[in-house]
Amino acid sequence: MSNKGVRWAFNLSKWEPSHADMLLATSCVQVEEKERLGKFVFKNDFKASLIGRLLMRKYVNETTGLKYDEIRFGRDEKGKPFLINSPSHISYNVSHQGGYTVLAGCGTGGLLGVDVVKVQFPRGKTLNEYFRTMSRIFSGVEWEKIRSQGSETSQLAMFFRHWCLKESYLKAVGVGVTINLQDVCFKINSDVLSKDRLVDDTEVYFRGEKLDWEFQEMLLDEEHCVAVASESNTGEKILFKEIDFHEVMKNAVSLLDPDENYCTSFFNKCDKI
Ligand code: COA
Ligand code: MG
Repeated sequence: MSNKGVRWAFNLSKWEPSHADMLLATSCVQVEEKERLGKFVFKNDFKASLIGRLLMRKYVNETTGLKYDEIRFGRDEKGKPFLINSPSHISYNVSHQGGYTVLAGCGTGGLLGVDVVKVQFPRGKTLNEYFRTMSRIFSGVEWEKIRSQGSETSQLAMFFRHWCLKESYLKAVGVGVTINLQDVCFKINSDVLSKDRLVDDTEVYFRGEKLDWEFQEMLLDEEHCVAVASESNTGEKILFKEIDFHEVMKNAVSLLDPDENYCTSFFNKCDKI
């Protein structure tokens, strides 16, 4: 058992599951989650969400010592997963977008949220048109920072970085998007993100008042940025580490019987392009 924090990043584009992989993986989620996953139209959405469930189970198993197949997750009224079987002295959160599913965990509790975002140009819109449709998400200060970047590519990267930060905070506090998004305002002090270094000097303000939260940001690759929001500053600085399917399934124990028909229906789905 360990109470160290973790940062795992699963690269979905590197995972082409075999039938046997899928049989095992889908037998390691709770029945209601298996049912939810089954409703995904696209293969990549199914895989992204499935890996998130498996990462949570691995994290709780390794951190609390609870038996793999005895761990029970519920969801609160906003859909945020929580551990039913034990008082929560750990915090963790999952996010999936583009080519990655990530999990951030903290062994000492406190609110924690993570978000991964794929930086991509909007389809069928100019950058100005796109930003106009998103105007209400960010405050004047945030827009100024985004617009102050030179090229359109840099503006887009700064836009998604703010998005990622805001989501990580909202996911940590669990309010979803039910609050006025402009009330939560980020002040970015280091303009450049990279793959091998954490940026942790971003500040957050709520209605003008500085909050005592820590944000750790980095790139997973040139197209994906990730942010972890934590209420408690543990002093731990952890870079995201890539984890593969073999590692995800290490020590996994089936909860459900293998389901051939269910797996066949997964392989009959198509990929969202
Ligand atoms: N709070 C925290 N975590 C939650 C959650 C909640 N209310 N609901 C679900 N999660 C967890 C789950 O593990 C979920 O995985 P699952 O979908 O496979 O069950 C995972 O977080 C989803 O996170 P992510 O992949 O980052 O999803 P998202 O960015 O699309 O949505 C929401 C995150 C649902 C929590 C919510 O904030 C939302 O609806 N966002 C919409 C996006 C938006 O308009 N943002 C405004 C710009 S800042
Ligand atoms: Mg997200």
